[in-house]
Amino acid sequence: MKFFVDTADVDAIAELNDLGMVDGVTTNPSIIAKSGRNILEVTKEICDMVEGPVSAEVVATEADAMIAEGRKLAKIAENIAVKVPLTWDGLKACKVLSGEGNMVNVTLCFSANQALLAAKAGATFISPFIGRLDDINLDGLELIEDIRTVYDNYGFETQILAASIRSANHMSECAKIGADVATAPPAVIKAMANHVLTDKGLAAFLEDAKKADIKIV
Ligand code: E4P
Repeated sequence: MKFFVDTADVDAIAELNDLGMVDGVTTNPSIIAKSGRNILEVTKEICDMVEGPVSAEVVATEADAMIAEGRKLAKIAENIAVKVPLTWDGLKACKVLSGEGNMVNVTLCFSANQALLAAKAGATFISPFIGRLDDINLDGLELIEDIRTVYDNYGFETQILAASIRSANHMSECAKIGADVATAPPAVIKAMANHVLTDKGLAAFLEDAKKADIKIV
């Protein structure tokens, strides 16, 4: 499973990128707003840092305007994936922008039917939101399973980009289901390294090393 980082924090991206943990980056208007930076500038900086796809989202809602914004975003760098919302106009924009050779990430997906439409419109990535479904007492991981089944049934090449990931558990479950990509905030990716037995075991090893005066010199 590929790891995308769901942030516009360039320092956090750099730290994970140095460890080989970054296969791509996703942003959205809320993330860009949080960064306090100009969307074109910060997106260009991220594109220069990482080799993989960097999603940058349109803010228009009508297809023609989305297409115009998407073309402008795509000019930032070769590794831009234009992100459009899963609306009827977003699907029209997806069809045109993907037809022009751009990577397109169709976002705000909450059903298998929506994912099916995005694949038929030529999406490179479909972004189903796990956490936001969990927030309303639905099962976000079940949606990832459903889309995996639908895409495998018909051999769609659109990649499942599991999004709105809130926990390390979401990451392992997505990997077990077979999501192609998972995008998560840096803190969630780092939390994947944690285990209470690792901490307990290390404390015991260090205590024994101290008692035995073990020194590696
Ligand atoms: C990714 O593309 C989405 O923008 C992101 O994962 C949304 O996450 P949230 O529901 O935690 O805001």
